[in-house]
Amino acid sequence: MNSVLLYFLFSFIGLLANGDNNDSLTKLKEEILELQKRIDNLEKFHKKYPRVKYLSINEQRRILVTGGAGFVGSHLVDRLMRDGHRVTVVDNFFTGSKANIEQWFGHPNFELINHDIVNSLFIEVDEIYHLASPASPPHYMFNAIKTIKTNTLGTINMLGLARRVKAKLLFTSTSEVYGDPEVHPQPETYWGNVNPIGPRACYDESKRVAEAMCFAYARQEKIQVRIARIFNTYGPRMNLNDGRVISNFIIQSLRKQNLTLYGNGNQTRSFQYIDDLVNGLVALMNSNYSKPVNLGNPDEFTIRDTALLIRDVVGNSNEVVVKEKMEDDPQRRKPDITVAKRELNWEPKTRLREGLMKTIDYFRSEVDKNDNSENLHTFYYLNSKDELDEIINSDKIEL
Ligand SMILES: NC(=O)c1ccc[n+]([C@@H]2O[C@H](COP(=O)([O-])OP(=O)(O)OC[C@H]3O[C@@H](n4cnc5c(N)ncnc54)[C@H](O)[C@@H]3O)[C@@H](O)[C@H]2O)c1
Repeated sequence: MNSVLLYFLFSFIGLLANGDNNDSLTKLKEEILELQKRIDNLEKFHKKYPRVKYLSINEQRRILVTGGAGFVGSHLVDRLMRDGHRVTVVDNFFTGSKANIEQWFGHPNFELINHDIVNSLFIEVDEIYHLASPASPPHYMFNAIKTIKTNTLGTINMLGLARRVKAKLLFTSTSEVYGDPEVHPQPETYWGNVNPIGPRACYDESKRVAEAMCFAYARQEKIQVRIARIFNTYGPRMNLNDGRVISNFIIQSLRKQNLTLYGNGNQTRSFQYIDDLVNGLVALMNSNYSKPVNLGNPDEFTIRDTALLIRDVVGNSNEVVVKEKMEDDPQRRKPDITVAKRELNWEPKTRLREGLMKTIDYFRSEVDKNDNSENLHTFYYLNSKDELDEIINSDKIEL
């Protein structure tokens, strides 16, 4: 704005020098006054941020969150910012969105870097929460090679950064490292039952390699690492098109469509609310425990019961239809959280119905926004096996 004013000022002086007529001078004066008014208005506007705790410079940590514009990352950023730390988000916006973190844009403690972690990054930080990776099957299968690169090269880059700046690194692994488990519930000591060449391998196996790399760096380079094995998590800001159980059922219910079960619907899952996970991640980072820790909610539900509960909370009476089972779809998943309870004094607090109510409110407003927008193409979700098959069999995927 100031440069615009200068431009007008110089034009004004130029006009004076050229002895131009009075009409032009008056017009120019009016334009300058109008611009001055607009600047005054802009200066009056102060963005209101969520309340942030004051920390002294010695208490404040410089924290990097990779994948901070995603579902889990953005909630973690909210927590770390509110706690008073200086937070840098690094994201390539593959599945994340600026809207998830816009509440912090312009805050002096916040910085956003548009960067792909497959490339090196040089910044000064004390802690790294390393979350960047596509997380849902349609997203991680969309470009399997890129998923592998993100979890391997990306994690090496983050471990290299942690070594250079002596930062502590927390890696978000997944319950998928257990594959289709033969042990139930799954403790951290279970080594898993993973198909190394199946459609999910790009994710499961690259997360397993990433865990191995964290341990190699810890042993060889004395990096402080923390490994969270996250089980199914849900909540506001979940990607509407992530093709997972909760989002699919909510969208189908809101849209008054049939609820689709793959297989007989007796597979079980446990669902963790996002606030519980964020508490667990922060507790793990702050702990002295360096082995993997399961973070999940051990309450177990069949997929069928989950569909019926969501239908009930939404308040519709959609039909439930059964389709063919998906390849490598685990039959049972439930965390054993004994370690998290013992080492972190952590356990999830949110009941499924309570968490679903908050999540459904968010989905409802997103669906309304979408329905009232002209950009309908931005709203897309996978809800059929055919669509998933199309992605898996497309030439973008090399199995
Ligand atoms: N949500 C869950 O239920 C769940 C379960 C197990 C593990 N996890 C793990 O938690 C982490 C976060 O998951 P989420 O649910 O928030 O997923 P998400 O897709 O919402 O977020 C992932 C973020 O990483 C970013 N990203 C992806 N590749 C990147 C790259 N190469 N460079 C920079 N940024 C990149 C995406 O743009 C996105 O913002 C992931 O590592 C995931 O494997 C999540």
